[in-house]
Amino acid sequence: MDGGDQELAEVQREHWERTYGAHPGMYGEQPSDPAVYAAEVFRAAGAADVLELGAGHGRDALFFARCGFTVLAGDFSPVGLEQLREAAAAAVLAGKVTTVVHDVREPLPLADASVDAVFAHMLLCMALSTKELHALVTEVRRVLRPGGSFVYTVRHTGDAHFGAGIGRGEDIWEHGGFAVHFFPRDLVDALADGWDLTEVHPFEEGDLPRRLWRVTQTLPR
Ligand SMILES: C[S@@+](CC[C@H](N)C(=O)[O-])C[C@H]1O[C@@H](n2cnc3c(N)ncnc32)[C@H](O)[C@@H]1O
Repeated sequence: MDGGDQELAEVQREHWERTYGAHPGMYGEQPSDPAVYAAEVFRAAGAADVLELGAGHGRDALFFARCGFTVLAGDFSPVGLEQLREAAAAAVLAGKVTTVVHDVREPLPLADASVDAVFAHMLLCMALSTKELHALVTEVRRVLRPGGSFVYTVRHTGDAHFGAGIGRGEDIWEHGGFAVHFFPRDLVDALADGWDLTEVHPFEEGDLPRRLWRVTQTLPR
């Protein structure tokens, strides 16, 4: 990370800490639509374990656990992950979900070819530079087993907030304290280099609405 990226990352981490502290469980208890889709993809591929990146307070990690997957849920917000652990304990799912405080700008804390599937809903579109995104997807590739799937979602350049607020370089815009990297389509294609890009599915979430792509890419066997 260079100095500017490091500073933005730290400000963002503090922002997420404050936000989860002020609004516990802010995304609700129901799984996101992409998680419901991903569970089907992972199940059809025979996956047993799922790594979730940017899991927050865990609406989707808990859903994957309820579906029977063993889940490792990472996020750089200890406050969000504490809410996840409390919810997992309350749902008697603690044995199925492990949490790790981790910034995705750093190497993933996993061995090569050690997980069946990776999921990340609205994580890659956080304040990550294009260089950091390529490094992250290289890491996802390293930890996935051959044939493993990566399902991620990102807000894209068709979103109403693209170009609004404070420009932070590349296609990163900060609005209401949250910095978002709005993906152009060629970035999706570049990050799929060497993968089988199965699908790029447009969808909307929330009242704004946020406009996103759900991307499914799989490693060759
Ligand atoms: C838009 S929220 C989505 C949370 C969760 N995926 C959901 O949909 O309920 C993005 C999440 O990414 C986390 N995050 C942002 N930047 C991160 C980074 N560099 N490393 C790890 N987590 C990060 C935030 O703390 C937050 O929990």
